[in-house]
Amino acid sequence: MAELVFEEKRVLITGGLGFIGSNLAARLVDLKAHVTIVDSLIPEYGGNLFNIAGIEGRVKVNISDVRDQHSMRYLVQGQDYLFNLAGQTSHLDSMHDPYADLDINCRSQLSILEVCRKYNPRVKIVFASTRQIYGKPEYLPVDEAHLLRPVDVNGINKMAGEWYHILYNNVYGIRACALRLTNTIGPRMRVKDARQTFLGIWVRLLIEGKPFEVWGGEQLRDFTYVDDAVGAFLMAAASDESNGQIFNLGGDCVISLKDLADLLIQVSDGGEYISHSYPADRKRIDIGDYYADFSRIRSALGWEPKVTLREGLGRTITYYRQHHDQYWD
Ligand SMILES: NC(=O)c1ccc[n+]([C@@H]2O[C@H](COP(=O)([O-])OP(=O)(O)OC[C@H]3O[C@@H](n4cnc5c(N)ncnc54)[C@H](O)[C@@H]3O)[C@@H](O)[C@H]2O)c1
Repeated sequence: MAELVFEEKRVLITGGLGFIGSNLAARLVDLKAHVTIVDSLIPEYGGNLFNIAGIEGRVKVNISDVRDQHSMRYLVQGQDYLFNLAGQTSHLDSMHDPYADLDINCRSQLSILEVCRKYNPRVKIVFASTRQIYGKPEYLPVDEAHLLRPVDVNGINKMAGEWYHILYNNVYGIRACALRLTNTIGPRMRVKDARQTFLGIWVRLLIEGKPFEVWGGEQLRDFTYVDDAVGAFLMAAASDESNGQIFNLGGDCVISLKDLADLLIQVSDGGEYISHSYPADRKRIDIGDYYADFSRIRSALGWEPKVTLREGLGRTITYYRQHHDQYWD
């Protein structure tokens, strides 16, 4: 991959103190890019200053909110790449506070694109979209031609955020593309609670020596290890093949939640879980089985997952055993 393209380039990462954004920042610093992070550090979201431990002297951090158009107007200027990852990620929170989700995941996306149009139309943008926008799959694996029929407010706003990017690419020629991420796992994810991913709270309870809960258990899922997700962001940014395109990411295997729980316990050399029926508020917005067909990004950009689920879980457990004091103590 033409990773050299990032050398000495100016890069802005929204949501760069979060899980995926901070892993991306670390990789870009290694590639000698000049990285600026913008993040609001709202406590319920995934941002954590410890996520950039080790690179804090080599990135600029701007604690501000993407809803603030004045900050964004200043921050986008002169950037070569914009990795747009800031987002409200909790599906349940989007039902309890739909307007915050609307402002961040939809309205702010439009205003970020507007400041790019006015002040930096040469920037290349990669947007972090989500498999959530497909809703309950009609067929598996889900490819990009699948109908979009979100089952929660978050899915609707992310869908609009994604399509604003494609629209600005098509109408104004601002090079933009979207990656529809599936469940992403790895070091620096939010493990305090289940807001970002159910796997977060599983990892926390397991390390604390407490049983974690598996709801349902038969649902099928795929998982991308965060380094692979970061690789996809870089490939999408580096190539003009991606302009105006939407790509699914996926995982090396498909697994039921029960089997995932067993694998996690195996990888951690111990632990236990309790099976539960789905809580009613979650069931209403559950998407059932999901796994992605990621052949489109494989043929267009050559991306495919390299880290197996077992390996990814192992690295995740090792990280949180070492650093839990920074994530939930
Ligand atoms: N992790 C996954 O499994 C997954 C799956 C699908 C899509 N995504 C998407 O990828 C992106 C990154 O997700 P993540 O898992 O790293 O989540 P994360 O919560 O760790 O990161 C998001 C970051 O955005 C910041 N943020 C939120 N609202 C902001 C605002 N208004 N202004 C500035 N910063 C703000 C948060 O503080 C956080 O640091 C999100 O847009 C998410 O929708 C993630």
